[in-house]
Amino acid sequence: MTTPAAPSLFDTLALNGVPLRNRLAVAPMTRISATAAGVPTEAMTRYYAGFARGGFGLIVTEGIYTDRAYTQGYAGQPGLTDAQQVAAWRQVVAAVHQQGGRIVAQLMHAGALSQANRFRDHTVGPSAVQPKGLQMTVYAGKGPYRMPRAMEEADILQAIEGFAQAARLARDAGFDGVEIHGANGYLLDQFLTSYTNQRQDAWGGSIAQRMRLPLETVRAVRVAVGAGFPVGVRISQGKVNDFVHKWPEGAEGAAAVFSALAASSVDYLHVTEHEAWQPAFADDGATLVQLARRAAPGLTIMANGSLHEPSRAASLLDDGATLVALGRGALANPDWPVLVREGQPVRPFDAAVLAPLGNIKDAEQALREARATVTPG
Ligand SMILES: Cc1cc2nc3c(=O)[nH]c(=O)nc-3n(C[C@H](O)[C@H](O)[C@H](O)COP(=O)(O)O)c2cc1C
Repeated sequence: MTTPAAPSLFDTLALNGVPLRNRLAVAPMTRISATAAGVPTEAMTRYYAGFARGGFGLIVTEGIYTDRAYTQGYAGQPGLTDAQQVAAWRQVVAAVHQQGGRIVAQLMHAGALSQANRFRDHTVGPSAVQPKGLQMTVYAGKGPYRMPRAMEEADILQAIEGFAQAARLARDAGFDGVEIHGANGYLLDQFLTSYTNQRQDAWGGSIAQRMRLPLETVRAVRVAVGAGFPVGVRISQGKVNDFVHKWPEGAEGAAAVFSALAASSVDYLHVTEHEAWQPAFADDGATLVQLARRAAPGLTIMANGSLHEPSRAASLLDDGATLVALGRGALANPDWPVLVREGQPVRPFDAAVLAPLGNIKDAEQALREARATVTPG
């Protein structure tokens, strides 16, 4: 028998009562492969089951839109808003469970970054601020983002209710938990970010006030699903349209964000950075995971960001992370846990898999199925 390259990654764990066979998660990745009606497809079922077959303990789904108003971001994005979508997600969940994996649904409101939404012809955000950058071409976007309409109080309450209702539907579909997408520049992060949130009311202002929407969302989701269902939240500094953004409040701001979440009812915090082992701020040598661990000593923390080398992944556990999530590393190696456990090298990520569009490709599926054939215990 070979010695595992990074044994601690293979320790078991319980997430609010849900047993995980190891500390290895698949990071959420949008693959625009649902039907035009937002219904998950057979290709998605095979895709997600492949990661479970390859040994990942937990899968976080792609960002799922949560209501039939302003939440959808992309054509081909799946939703959790109706019975047909729930029925199709049930197939995905069952296929993952059959391979010994667990799966949580990432709940996402695209806000001002919405590129396509079949329910509305305009976007909303905290304030009427044009998003930086250009729409993502891998998700069929073109040109600048639209100027959003500043949300009214009623829009904000509707957004919160959408998260809560989608969480209920996720539970009905058999998911093992939900992850609230509070990162990467989407709606909740637009509220957290000072330059996109210029509100003068109780939803804007200091970093504590800008955290109000993420915290109210956590509260509503918890009420919707009850105490015994895992709820996580994802947080980042960088954004899909502003990769290098740093919280202007620095390490103190990070402490405010993470201690507020630690005091909320979340079961886990998902922290993502481009390179998770790098210092979070120039003036402080700590990684964002270390800052999160200081502010939230008892919380389960999932670390993400260029951690596909096993030694890097293990080093984040030393920083205080409880689990490690792999994005591109999992696309290149749906069987990463099997390979690493056996001491085999991991394959480099080839961006061609996401070209010209980010949808799941037949050739990708065939390769995955040929590779990921063993389920570790
Ligand atoms: C194709 C693709 C789609 C992504 N979609 C999402 C998403 O839906 N939700 C999300 O929170 N992050 C999304 N991300 C970001 C990843 O979860 C992850 O943070 C990023 O890839 C960095 O991790 P890595 O270095 O392990 O790839 C996506 C990344 C990729 C490559």
